[in-house]
Amino acid sequence: MLPEFTHTSCLILTLVIFTCMTMAKLRRPILYNLHSDRTVCRTIPGLSKDQMELCYKEPDTTMAAMKGLQYAVSECQHQFKEQRWNCSSLVTKEKYPYTSPLFRKGFRETSFAQAISSAGISIAVARECSLGALLNCGCDSRKYQNQMRETLNWKWSGCSHNIHYSTRFAKLFLDRREKAKDIHANVNHHNNRIGRMVVKNNMQIKCKCHGMSGSCEFKTCWRIVPDMRIIGNILKEKYRNAHLFTMSNRGFKKIREKYDNRLSSQRKRRRSKEKKSTHRQNLIYYQTSPSYCEADISADVAGTSGRFCNRTSNGPDNCSSLCCGRGYNLLRRIRTELCKCKFEWCCEVKCDTCTIDEWISVCK
Ligand SMILES: *[C@@H]1O[C@H](CO)[C@@H](O)[C@H](O)[C@H]1NC(C)=O
Ligand SMILES: *[C@@H]1O[C@H](CO)[C@@H](O)[C@H](O)[C@H]1NC(C)=O
Ligand SMILES: *[C@@H]1O[C@H](CO)[C@@H](O)[C@H](O)[C@H]1NC(C)=O
Repeated sequence: MLPEFTHTSCLILTLVIFTCMTMAKLRRPILYNLHSDRTVCRTIPGLSKDQMELCYKEPDTTMAAMKGLQYAVSECQHQFKEQRWNCSSLVTKEKYPYTSPLFRKGFRETSFAQAISSAGISIAVARECSLGALLNCGCDSRKYQNQMRETLNWKWSGCSHNIHYSTRFAKLFLDRREKAKDIHANVNHHNNRIGRMVVKNNMQIKCKCHGMSGSCEFKTCWRIVPDMRIIGNILKEKYRNAHLFTMSNRGFKKIREKYDNRLSSQRKRRRSKEKKSTHRQNLIYYQTSPSYCEADISADVAGTSGRFCNRTSNGPDNCSSLCCGRGYNLLRRIRTELCKCKFEWCCEVKCDTCTIDEWISVCK
Protein backbone atom coordinates (compact mmCIF):
# COMPACT_ATOMS: atom_id res chain seq x y z
CA MET A 1 0.00 0.00 0.00
CA LEU A 2 2.72 2.40 1.01
CA PRO A 3 4.72 2.40 -2.25
CA GLU A 4 1.55 3.07 -4.21
CA PHE A 5 0.63 5.97 -1.95
CA THR A 6 4.06 7.51 -2.38
CA HIS A 7 3.77 7.15 -6.08
CA THR A 8 0.45 9.03 -6.16
CA SER A 9 1.65 11.85 -3.94
CA CYS A 10 4.77 12.14 -6.01
CA LEU A 11 2.66 12.52 -9.08
CA ILE A 12 0.55 15.18 -7.41
CA LEU A 13 3.63 17.01 -6.19
CA THR A 14 5.13 16.96 -9.66
CA LEU A 15 1.91 18.32 -11.07
CA VAL A 16 1.82 21.11 -8.50
CA ILE A 17 5.43 22.06 -9.21
CA PHE A 18 4.84 21.99 -12.92
CA THR A 19 1.72 24.18 -12.61
CA CYS A 20 3.57 26.64 -10.41
CA MET A 21 6.40 26.89 -12.88
CA THR A 22 4.03 27.47 -15.77
CA MET A 23 2.17 30.14 -13.85
CA ALA A 24 5.38 31.88 -12.93
CA LYS A 25 6.26 31.94 -16.56
CA LEU A 26 2.86 33.33 -17.52
CA ARG A 27 3.15 36.12 -14.96
CA ARG A 28 5.92 37.66 -17.01
CA PRO A 29 4.23 39.79 -19.67
CA ILE A 30 4.00 38.11 -23.01
CA LEU A 31 5.00 41.36 -24.67
CA TYR A 32 8.42 41.06 -23.13
CA ASN A 33 9.01 37.59 -24.46
CA LEU A 34 8.24 38.75 -27.97
CA HIS A 35 10.36 41.86 -27.77
CA SER A 36 13.32 40.30 -26.08
CA ASP A 37 14.19 38.75 -29.39
CA ARG A 38 17.39 40.43 -30.57
CA THR A 39 16.71 39.74 -34.20
CA VAL A 40 14.32 42.73 -34.21
CA CYS A 41 17.39 44.95 -34.08
CA ARG A 42 18.35 43.92 -37.57
CA THR A 43 14.93 44.93 -38.92
CA ILE A 44 15.58 48.58 -38.06
CA PRO A 45 17.42 50.15 -40.96
CA GLY A 46 20.44 52.37 -40.53
CA LEU A 47 21.24 51.90 -36.86
CA SER A 48 24.76 53.01 -35.99
CA LYS A 49 27.12 50.51 -34.39
CA ASP A 50 26.49 51.97 -30.94
CA GLN A 51 22.74 51.97 -31.42
CA MET A 52 22.86 48.35 -32.51
CA GLU A 53 24.79 47.48 -29.36
CA LEU A 54 22.18 49.20 -27.24
CA CYS A 55 19.43 47.41 -29.12
CA TYR A 56 21.10 44.06 -28.50
CA LYS A 57 21.29 44.89 -24.81
CA GLU A 58 17.71 46.09 -24.58
CA PRO A 59 15.67 44.90 -27.56
CA ASP A 60 12.39 45.34 -25.68
CA THR A 61 13.14 48.96 -24.76
CA THR A 62 14.26 49.63 -28.32
CA MET A 63 10.95 48.33 -29.62
CA ALA A 64 9.12 50.63 -27.20
CA ALA A 65 11.24 53.46 -28.59
CA MET A 66 10.15 52.52 -32.12
CA LYS A 67 6.55 52.82 -30.99
CA GLY A 68 7.39 56.27 -29.62
CA LEU A 69 8.77 57.31 -33.00
CA GLN A 70 5.43 56.41 -34.55
CA TYR A 71 3.60 58.59 -32.01
CA ALA A 72 6.02 61.36 -32.93
CA VAL A 73 5.43 61.04 -36.66
CA SER A 74 1.65 61.10 -36.37
CA GLU A 75 1.76 64.10 -34.04
CA CYS A 76 4.11 65.84 -36.46
CA GLN A 77 1.65 65.20 -39.29
CA HIS A 78 -1.13 66.67 -37.20
CA GLN A 79 0.86 69.79 -36.33
CA PHE A 80 1.92 70.40 -39.93
CA LYS A 81 -1.14 69.26 -41.86
CA GLU A 82 -1.81 72.72 -43.28
CA GLN A 83 1.79 73.52 -44.10
CA ARG A 84 3.74 73.08 -47.32
CA TRP A 85 6.02 70.69 -45.48
CA ASN A 86 3.45 68.38 -43.91
CA CYS A 87 5.73 65.81 -42.28
CA SER A 88 4.64 63.05 -44.64
CA SER A 89 8.28 62.49 -45.62
CA LEU A 90 8.85 60.96 -42.18
CA VAL A 91 6.34 58.22 -42.90
CA THR A 92 8.74 55.57 -44.13
CA LYS A 93 8.20 52.02 -45.22
CA GLU A 94 10.36 50.65 -42.42
CA LYS A 95 8.60 52.83 -39.82
CA TYR A 96 11.92 54.35 -38.84
CA PRO A 97 11.77 58.09 -39.66
CA TYR A 98 15.56 58.57 -39.43
CA THR A 99 15.96 57.05 -42.88
CA SER A 100 14.49 60.29 -44.26
CA PRO A 101 17.16 62.60 -45.73
CA LEU A 102 15.54 65.42 -43.75
CA PHE A 103 17.42 64.18 -40.70
CA ARG A 104 20.72 64.76 -42.47
CA LYS A 105 19.81 68.41 -43.06
CA GLY A 106 19.78 71.31 -40.64
CA PHE A 107 16.45 72.95 -41.45
CA ARG A 108 13.98 74.41 -39.01
CA GLU A 109 11.76 71.42 -39.84
CA THR A 110 14.62 69.08 -39.00
CA SER A 111 14.84 70.63 -35.55
CA PHE A 112 11.16 69.96 -34.95
CA ALA A 113 11.47 66.39 -36.21
CA GLN A 114 14.47 65.76 -33.95
CA ALA A 115 12.79 67.14 -30.85
CA ILE A 116 9.46 65.42 -31.32
CA SER A 117 11.13 62.08 -32.03
CA SER A 118 13.13 62.35 -28.85
CA ALA A 119 9.97 63.29 -26.94
CA GLY A 120 8.07 60.37 -28.47
CA ILE A 121 10.70 57.92 -27.27
CA SER A 122 10.68 59.43 -23.77
CA ILE A 123 6.91 59.07 -23.60
CA ALA A 124 6.60 55.55 -24.97
CA VAL A 125 9.43 54.07 -22.92
CA ALA A 126 8.20 55.71 -19.68
CA ARG A 127 4.73 54.23 -20.22
CA GLU A 128 5.92 50.75 -21.05
CA CYS A 129 8.27 50.68 -18.08
CA SER A 130 5.36 51.18 -15.73
CA LEU A 131 3.21 48.66 -17.59
CA GLY A 132 5.75 46.09 -16.58
CA ALA A 133 6.47 45.30 -20.19
CA LEU A 134 10.22 45.90 -20.08
CA LEU A 135 12.96 43.88 -18.51
CA ASN A 136 15.23 46.75 -17.43
CA CYS A 137 12.78 49.17 -15.85
CA GLY A 138 9.62 49.27 -13.84
CA CYS A 139 7.44 51.80 -12.08
CA ASP A 140 8.80 55.01 -10.72
CA SER A 141 7.79 54.92 -7.07
CA ARG A 142 9.29 58.22 -5.96
CA LYS A 143 7.31 60.77 -4.02
CA TYR A 144 7.25 64.20 -5.64
CA GLN A 145 6.90 66.31 -2.53
CA ASN A 146 8.25 69.39 -4.26
CA GLN A 147 5.41 69.29 -6.81
CA MET A 148 2.59 68.59 -4.40
CA ARG A 149 2.73 68.02 -0.69
CA GLU A 150 0.82 65.09 0.65
CA THR A 151 -2.05 65.88 2.96
CA LEU A 152 -4.14 63.81 5.27
CA ASN A 153 -6.49 62.64 2.59
CA TRP A 154 -4.09 61.86 -0.19
CA LYS A 155 -0.66 60.38 -0.71
CA TRP A 156 1.83 59.56 -3.42
CA SER A 157 1.36 55.97 -4.29
CA GLY A 158 1.10 53.65 -7.17
CA CYS A 159 3.06 53.33 -10.31
CA SER A 160 4.34 56.53 -11.89
CA HIS A 161 5.49 56.47 -15.50
CA ASN A 162 9.23 56.04 -15.38
CA ILE A 163 10.43 59.27 -16.94
CA HIS A 164 13.90 58.91 -15.41
CA TYR A 165 14.62 55.67 -17.17
CA SER A 166 13.04 56.79 -20.42
CA THR A 167 14.92 60.07 -20.71
CA ARG A 168 18.19 58.25 -20.10
CA PHE A 169 17.33 55.72 -22.76
CA ALA A 170 16.22 58.38 -25.26
CA LYS A 171 19.51 60.24 -24.79
CA LEU A 172 21.60 57.10 -25.12
CA PHE A 173 19.75 55.88 -28.15
CA LEU A 174 19.50 59.12 -30.13
CA ASP A 175 22.70 60.92 -29.22
CA ARG A 176 24.61 57.83 -30.28
CA ARG A 177 23.47 58.32 -33.84
CA GLU A 178 26.05 61.06 -34.22
CA LYS A 179 29.27 61.10 -32.35
CA ALA A 180 31.14 63.67 -34.43
CA LYS A 181 31.73 67.07 -32.92
CA ASP A 182 30.40 68.93 -35.94
CA ILE A 183 27.59 71.45 -36.19
CA HIS A 184 25.10 68.81 -37.23
CA ALA A 185 25.74 66.58 -34.22
CA ASN A 186 25.73 69.51 -31.80
CA VAL A 187 22.48 70.92 -33.09
CA ASN A 188 20.93 67.47 -33.13
CA HIS A 189 21.94 66.75 -29.55
CA HIS A 190 20.58 70.09 -28.45
CA ASN A 191 17.19 69.48 -30.09
CA ASN A 192 17.03 65.96 -28.73
CA ARG A 193 17.54 67.43 -25.29
CA ILE A 194 14.72 69.93 -25.81
CA GLY A 195 12.38 67.07 -26.70
CA ARG A 196 13.23 65.16 -23.53
CA MET A 197 13.02 68.30 -21.42
CA VAL A 198 9.55 69.23 -22.65
CA VAL A 199 8.23 65.82 -21.61
CA LYS A 200 9.95 65.92 -18.25
CA ASN A 201 8.69 69.43 -17.47
CA ASN A 202 5.10 68.59 -18.33
CA MET A 203 4.46 65.45 -16.35
CA GLN A 204 0.86 65.23 -15.15
CA ILE A 205 -0.59 63.99 -11.90
CA LYS A 206 -3.32 61.39 -11.86
CA CYS A 207 -5.27 60.35 -8.80
CA LYS A 208 -7.62 57.59 -7.82
CA CYS A 209 -10.39 57.88 -5.25
CA HIS A 210 -10.84 55.43 -2.44
CA GLY A 211 -13.55 55.13 0.14
CA MET A 212 -17.13 54.02 0.31
CA SER A 213 -18.88 54.08 -3.07
CA GLY A 214 -17.15 57.00 -4.72
CA SER A 215 -16.96 59.15 -1.60
CA CYS A 216 -13.32 59.90 -2.35
CA GLU A 217 -12.43 60.04 1.31
CA PHE A 218 -8.90 59.21 0.39
CA LYS A 219 -6.87 59.57 -2.79
CA THR A 220 -3.67 58.06 -4.09
CA CYS A 221 -1.78 59.89 -6.83
CA TRP A 222 1.00 59.16 -9.27
CA ARG A 223 2.67 60.84 -12.23
CA ILE A 224 1.96 60.13 -15.88
CA VAL A 225 3.65 61.39 -19.03
CA PRO A 226 1.81 64.15 -20.90
CA ASP A 227 -0.27 63.42 -23.95
CA MET A 228 1.59 63.65 -27.25
CA ARG A 229 -0.73 66.52 -28.29
CA ILE A 230 0.50 68.70 -25.40
CA ILE A 231 4.08 68.04 -26.47
CA GLY A 232 3.24 68.70 -30.12
CA ASN A 233 1.72 72.07 -29.30
CA ILE A 234 4.67 73.16 -27.18
CA LEU A 235 7.24 72.06 -29.74
CA LYS A 236 5.30 73.75 -32.56
CA GLU A 237 5.63 77.00 -30.65
CA LYS A 238 9.35 76.35 -30.19
CA TYR A 239 9.56 75.65 -33.91
CA ARG A 240 8.10 79.09 -34.64
CA ASN A 241 10.69 80.67 -32.37
CA ALA A 242 13.61 78.48 -33.42
CA HIS A 243 17.05 80.13 -33.67
CA LEU A 244 19.15 79.98 -36.79
CA PHE A 245 22.85 79.42 -36.19
CA THR A 246 25.51 79.44 -38.82
CA MET A 247 29.17 78.53 -38.78
CA SER A 248 30.22 82.15 -38.74
CA ASN A 249 27.55 83.14 -36.30
CA ARG A 250 28.70 84.00 -32.79
CA GLY A 251 25.60 82.28 -31.55
CA PHE A 252 26.61 78.95 -32.92
CA LYS A 253 30.12 79.38 -31.62
CA LYS A 254 28.59 79.74 -28.23
CA ILE A 255 26.68 76.54 -28.55
CA ARG A 256 29.64 74.69 -29.94
CA GLU A 257 31.80 75.89 -27.14
CA LYS A 258 29.21 74.85 -24.64
CA TYR A 259 29.25 71.37 -26.03
CA ASP A 260 32.99 71.20 -26.35
CA ASN A 261 33.30 72.35 -22.78
CA ARG A 262 35.95 74.81 -23.84
CA LEU A 263 34.20 77.87 -22.56
CA SER A 264 36.44 79.62 -20.13
CA SER A 265 34.81 80.39 -16.84
CA GLN A 266 35.41 84.10 -17.41
CA ARG A 267 33.37 84.19 -20.56
CA LYS A 268 30.82 81.93 -18.97
CA ARG A 269 30.26 84.57 -16.31
CA ARG A 270 29.97 87.34 -18.87
CA ARG A 271 27.20 85.56 -20.68
CA SER A 272 23.96 86.95 -19.37
CA LYS A 273 21.74 84.53 -17.59
CA GLU A 274 18.75 85.49 -19.69
CA LYS A 275 20.44 84.83 -22.99
CA LYS A 276 21.63 81.49 -21.73
CA SER A 277 18.15 80.43 -20.82
CA THR A 278 16.67 81.35 -24.22
CA HIS A 279 19.39 79.41 -26.00
CA ARG A 280 18.82 76.48 -23.78
CA GLN A 281 15.04 76.45 -24.20
CA ASN A 282 14.74 76.94 -27.95
CA LEU A 283 15.05 74.70 -30.92
CA ILE A 284 18.01 75.53 -33.11
CA TYR A 285 18.77 74.94 -36.77
CA TYR A 286 21.63 75.85 -39.06
CA GLN A 287 20.33 75.81 -42.63
CA THR A 288 17.72 78.08 -44.12
CA SER A 289 14.73 75.97 -45.06
CA PRO A 290 13.74 75.63 -48.70
CA SER A 291 10.33 76.93 -49.72
CA TYR A 292 9.05 73.34 -49.98
CA CYS A 293 7.19 74.47 -53.10
CA GLU A 294 8.93 72.28 -55.65
CA ALA A 295 9.85 68.65 -55.35
CA ASP A 296 13.45 67.94 -54.39
CA ILE A 297 14.23 64.27 -53.90
CA SER A 298 17.65 64.87 -52.35
CA ALA A 299 16.05 66.68 -49.42
CA ASP A 300 12.97 64.46 -49.37
CA VAL A 301 10.70 67.34 -50.38
CA ALA A 302 7.56 66.30 -52.26
CA GLY A 303 6.49 69.78 -53.35
CA THR A 304 2.93 71.02 -53.07
CA SER A 305 1.62 70.14 -56.50
CA GLY A 306 -1.53 68.06 -56.05
CA ARG A 307 -2.21 69.25 -52.51
CA PHE A 308 -5.74 70.31 -51.55
CA CYS A 309 -5.88 73.98 -50.62
CA ASN A 310 -8.56 76.10 -49.00
CA ARG A 311 -9.69 79.16 -50.93
CA THR A 312 -11.26 80.85 -47.92
CA SER A 313 -8.70 80.08 -45.26
CA ASN A 314 -6.43 82.72 -43.73
CA GLY A 315 -4.11 80.00 -42.53
CA PRO A 316 -1.11 78.48 -44.28
CA ASP A 317 -3.44 76.12 -46.20
CA ASN A 318 -4.78 79.05 -48.23
CA CYS A 319 -4.41 78.47 -51.95
CA SER A 320 -2.07 81.33 -52.71
CA SER A 321 0.42 80.26 -50.09
CA LEU A 322 0.12 76.49 -50.41
CA CYS A 323 0.26 76.51 -54.22
CA CYS A 324 3.19 78.95 -54.19
CA GLY A 325 1.53 81.22 -56.73
CA ARG A 326 1.20 78.48 -59.36
CA GLY A 327 -2.57 78.59 -59.04
CA TYR A 328 -4.99 75.76 -58.58
CA ASN A 329 -7.49 73.60 -60.41
CA LEU A 330 -11.07 73.20 -59.33
CA LEU A 331 -12.26 69.64 -59.18
CA ARG A 332 -15.82 68.52 -58.66
CA ARG A 333 -16.07 65.87 -56.00
CA ILE A 334 -19.15 63.94 -55.02
CA ARG A 335 -18.94 62.07 -51.77
CA THR A 336 -21.28 60.63 -49.18
CA GLU A 337 -21.34 61.34 -45.52
CA LEU A 338 -23.45 60.29 -42.52
CA CYS A 339 -25.74 63.16 -41.56
CA LYS A 340 -28.90 64.21 -39.69
CA CYS A 341 -28.11 61.80 -36.91
CA LYS A 342 -30.90 61.31 -34.39
CA PHE A 343 -30.93 59.63 -31.06
CA GLU A 344 -33.71 57.11 -30.77
CA TRP A 345 -35.12 55.81 -27.53
CA CYS A 346 -33.44 53.54 -26.47
CA CYS A 347 -30.47 53.37 -27.36
CA GLU A 348 -29.71 53.83 -30.96
CA VAL A 349 -28.36 56.58 -33.17
CA LYS A 350 -29.86 56.71 -36.65
CA CYS A 351 -28.30 58.67 -39.46
CA ASP A 352 -29.09 59.44 -43.07
CA THR A 353 -26.59 59.26 -45.83
CA CYS A 354 -26.16 62.61 -47.51
CA THR A 355 -24.52 63.20 -50.83
CA ILE A 356 -22.17 66.14 -50.89
CA ASP A 357 -21.40 67.71 -54.21
CA GLU A 358 -18.51 70.12 -53.85
CA TRP A 359 -15.73 71.88 -55.67
CA ILE A 360 -12.34 71.34 -54.22
CA SER A 361 -9.18 73.17 -55.15
CA VAL A 362 -5.98 71.35 -55.94
CA CYS A 363 -2.61 73.04 -56.36
CA LYS A 364 -1.17 73.08 -59.88
C1 LIG B 1 1.30 65.85 -47.52
O1 LIG B 1 2.00 66.25 -48.67
C2 LIG B 1 2.21 65.23 -49.60
C3 LIG B 1 3.11 65.76 -50.69
O2 LIG B 1 2.86 67.09 -51.03
C4 LIG B 1 0.87 64.73 -50.11
O3 LIG B 1 1.07 63.69 -51.06
C5 LIG B 1 0.04 64.22 -48.95
O4 LIG B 1 -1.25 63.86 -49.37
C6 LIG B 1 -0.07 65.31 -47.88
N1 LIG B 1 -0.71 64.75 -46.71
C7 LIG B 1 -1.74 65.32 -46.14
C8 LIG B 1 -2.31 64.62 -44.94
O5 LIG B 1 -2.23 66.35 -46.54
C1 LIG C 1 -11.54 76.46 -45.25
O1 LIG C 1 -11.26 77.51 -44.36
C2 LIG C 1 -12.42 78.05 -43.75
C3 LIG C 1 -11.99 79.29 -42.95
O2 LIG C 1 -10.93 78.96 -42.09
C4 LIG C 1 -13.11 77.00 -42.90
O3 LIG C 1 -14.26 77.50 -42.31
C5 LIG C 1 -13.46 75.80 -43.79
O4 LIG C 1 -13.99 74.75 -43.01
C6 LIG C 1 -12.23 75.31 -44.54
N1 LIG C 1 -12.65 74.30 -45.52
C7 LIG C 1 -12.11 73.08 -45.53
C8 LIG C 1 -12.62 72.17 -46.60
O5 LIG C 1 -11.24 72.72 -44.76
C1 LIG D 1 -1.89 82.56 -46.62
O1 LIG D 1 -0.97 81.93 -45.74
C2 LIG D 1 0.24 82.62 -45.57
C3 LIG D 1 1.15 81.74 -44.75
O2 LIG D 1 0.54 81.34 -43.56
C4 LIG D 1 -0.04 83.96 -44.91
O3 LIG D 1 1.16 84.66 -44.73
C5 LIG D 1 -0.98 84.75 -45.80
O4 LIG D 1 -1.35 85.97 -45.15
C6 LIG D 1 -2.25 83.97 -46.13
N1 LIG D 1 -3.01 84.65 -47.14
C7 LIG D 1 -4.30 84.92 -47.02
C8 LIG D 1 -4.97 85.57 -48.16
O5 LIG D 1 -4.93 84.60 -46.03
